[in-house]
Amino acid sequence: MSTKTKSAYVCNDCGSDYRKWQGQCNDCKAWNTLTEVRLGTQRSATLSRAGFAGVVDGQIKTLADIALQEIPRISTAVGELDLVLGGGLVPGSAILVGGEPGAGKSTLLLQTLCHLASCQSALYVTGEESPQQVAMRARRLQLPTDKLEIMAETSVETVCAVAQQKRPKILVVDSIQVMHLDEVTSAPGSVSQVRESASMLVRFAKQTDTVLIMVGHVTKDGSLAGPKVLEHMIDCSLMLEGNSDSHFRTLRSHKNRFGAVNELGVFAMTDKGLKEVANPSAIFLQRGEQASSGSVVMVVWEGTRPLLVELQALVDDSHLGNPRRVTVGLDHNRLSMLLAVLHRHGGIMAGDQDVFVNVVGGVKVLETSADLALIMAVISSFRDRPLPEDLVVFGEVGLAGEIRPVANGQERLREAAKHGFKQAIVPAGNAPKQSIKGLEVKAVRTVTEALQALN
Ligand code: TYD
Ligand code: MG
Repeated sequence: MSTKTKSAYVCNDCGSDYRKWQGQCNDCKAWNTLTEVRLGTQRSATLSRAGFAGVVDGQIKTLADIALQEIPRISTAVGELDLVLGGGLVPGSAILVGGEPGAGKSTLLLQTLCHLASCQSALYVTGEESPQQVAMRARRLQLPTDKLEIMAETSVETVCAVAQQKRPKILVVDSIQVMHLDEVTSAPGSVSQVRESASMLVRFAKQTDTVLIMVGHVTKDGSLAGPKVLEHMIDCSLMLEGNSDSHFRTLRSHKNRFGAVNELGVFAMTDKGLKEVANPSAIFLQRGEQASSGSVVMVVWEGTRPLLVELQALVDDSHLGNPRRVTVGLDHNRLSMLLAVLHRHGGIMAGDQDVFVNVVGGVKVLETSADLALIMAVISSFRDRPLPEDLVVFGEVGLAGEIRPVANGQERLREAAKHGFKQAIVPAGNAPKQSIKGLEVKAVRTVTEALQALN
């Protein structure tokens, strides 16, 4: 059987691969970014028929024949982190914790690991900070420091060799961008290095049933260095997000083979490190004494639970030829669409107005259930008339001006009642069958009805 060394060319910017070198990447159009990666020796594809004989026996089973076992989970003792992970760490899984530099990835992992190390063997590989820096931080945060093992290393081969001997249950690599493999020639942080390093670590984790947690920095445009290069090989991808001017951080899972995606955990960065926020709704709802126009509370659904969030709008005369439409935490196109719906079906003309919309607390809302709240906030600011303080709103708005129901209506209403809200404007399809104690629910079918419900 013949063997040969294969090589490929990978774009350092976007990770596309090519069989031959070329000057420009076809995908991202960047010039001179292709570098050669050696893929190691591979068997040539021409296996003889005899080579396959006997392989098939025992390879194929029906799903029913496969013995099932409950996946054992290692609890991290951090409630919000366990929630986002889908119940805890799964042995042999590879987890990526992404976020912008300074988001708090190292802090979160250090805090978690210091506590976990008392009952599970754990190894923390720091490639960015020196062990002294990590130790100083742990001391300042008053973490138990006697059990966690730490190593400053950037060579993946060494990390795997050490881990092979020590056999930790949990291996943290901070960060994957500084790791390198000797056999790959490009610089650390380049797509080929990140891809090959991660794939070696993941292989190690799978073979030895180790939990592998990798830290990955996100570049300015929101992609991990080499977008998508890691996504397919890991089991779980978490993103730690938050504005630098707000001390709240949200941890969201974008992919999870062992739990629900888009689950949201909330933390606050304090001078004693990251603290979990067990009741996030209460935090995002801290409002001023006086009711102000343009502000409304909506109930969004995050993963497996409802979250009450305040939405603010400011509508003001524009002095520009092209009035501004600015959204923070919401989809920009959605705002333009809803303003058009409001004009056509609500008779409210905002063509000569600047419109600013903001979700309080730095939360990103991806759901369409925010539509109705957005319309209400815009109207309230436009008319300069505050909405009732005890009102919650949710619902999707269609292009024909109809209000569409959203999932989990009952649970959303119950959460609102729990937080002391007295009135709700919701889609007719979400009207509760039995009345909810203390909550007056107005069910609406169209934008026109929703406007009437405000009066
Ligand atoms: P860090 O965990 O180093 O971020 P990352 O690893 O994601 O790059 O967090 C650094 C930021 O967190 C830094 O800007 C300071 C802030 N911070 C606090 O406010 N309080 C603390 O107790 C700690 C440890 C960090
Ligand atoms: Mg860090």
